[in-house]
Amino acid sequence: MQSIAATPRSDVDIFAEDVMAAPYPAFRQLRDAGPVVHLDRFGVYAVPRYQQARHVLADWESFSSADIALNNDFNEYMSDFSILRSDPPLHDAMRNTLAAKLARRALREQEPAISRRAKDLVGRLAEQGSFDAVTDLARRFPVEIVGDLIGLPQEGREDLLRMVDANFNCFGPDNERTRASLPKMAELADYMLTRVTRENLAEGSMGRAVYEAADAGAIPAPAAPWLVMAYVTAGMDTTVHALGHAVWLMAEHSAQWESLRADRSLVPQAFREVLRCESPVQAFGRTVRTDWTVEDVTLPVGTKLAVLFGSANRDERRWADPDRFDITRDNREHLAFGYGLHGCAGQALARIEGEAILNALVDKVTRIEAGTPVRHFNNVLRGLESLPVTVFTD
Ligand code: HEM
Repeated sequence: MQSIAATPRSDVDIFAEDVMAAPYPAFRQLRDAGPVVHLDRFGVYAVPRYQQARHVLADWESFSSADIALNNDFNEYMSDFSILRSDPPLHDAMRNTLAAKLARRALREQEPAISRRAKDLVGRLAEQGSFDAVTDLARRFPVEIVGDLIGLPQEGREDLLRMVDANFNCFGPDNERTRASLPKMAELADYMLTRVTRENLAEGSMGRAVYEAADAGAIPAPAAPWLVMAYVTAGMDTTVHALGHAVWLMAEHSAQWESLRADRSLVPQAFREVLRCESPVQAFGRTVRTDWTVEDVTLPVGTKLAVLFGSANRDERRWADPDRFDITRDNREHLAFGYGLHGCAGQALARIEGEAILNALVDKVTRIEAGTPVRHFNNVLRGLESLPVTVFTD
């Protein structure tokens, strides 16, 4: 058994803009260096390979989410009622409350309306011909759909993505992006406390249901606003980035786009391939709770980990030709939604939204031409700021 001092180390800054612009060579170097690699700049161990990433995510008892951010300030700031960092039994009570509304079965009656709204939006943009796939499509759809499902008031929605983006930055290491974003958390708290009150949430909405669960004693009353906040923070930017990348990847890979047009039963698989190739969530933290022996190294209790979702989804040990965007591969076991206890509670909704947009594009569009994308930089999210496209309907 080697001492922890023998663990491979790296001084790469995976949060620097030049690395984030094209992170896959750096991820590959980390994977090749070992199953856990000390990131010297941040004092955490990266978990860059698929097998160990899934192992860590699967075992909440050995790997705590309490310090899910890679910096202490935000971990201290977050509430104990944040579902992301909670353990059972509180976690399960909160999760069941969300699942009552977010399970595929519960969403079935929403599906026709979501696909109609996708068709309307894509139809309008296709008539226009040229548009920005991020600002005109990807940023609009989830805010409207998820905003309505949560029951958020119209007023203030325009500021949401900016506030939620700052929230995600705060999960990063103690870097400039985190430091610039932490003060903005007061603005998000103010929005939640003053605008998203129980009375302001639409009747029959997911948000109202959270307060009703608290009334029924299913969750502690002080957990309710935090759980509504979980919907708001987890359910928008993630899907925005998935949709932006979906359009970009389809434009860049015309043969894949043709395959999708020829066989729309591939739509679910195609959306999963987008998530595998360009995972919207790139990293979250965990802390070792019982000594973890991985290959010939033991990481002691208290060791901080950064699980690299985007790297695991490109691990050549798990995926053949991992950098190839291939909508026909078996990608059911991608980790873009996480895995295990904290695996994404909203994945059914995200899939419905993504599939609705892809189906609407297949309905209307024969060819997509993309201009130069502008990358968006966030500590833990991967997405685009802008993507000019022209679509053809002939
Ligand atoms: C493509 C879109 C999405 C992606 C890639 C995504 C990704 C993720 C990931 C990776 C996690 C796991 C966090 C961890 O392991 O610590 C997660 C958790 C979560 N997501 Fe999503 N998400 C998406 C959309 C949504 C939507 C639409 C909602 C709800 C409206 C949502 C709600 C949640 C919640 C509540 C959790 C916390 C679950 C728990 O701790 O038990 N997500 N998501």
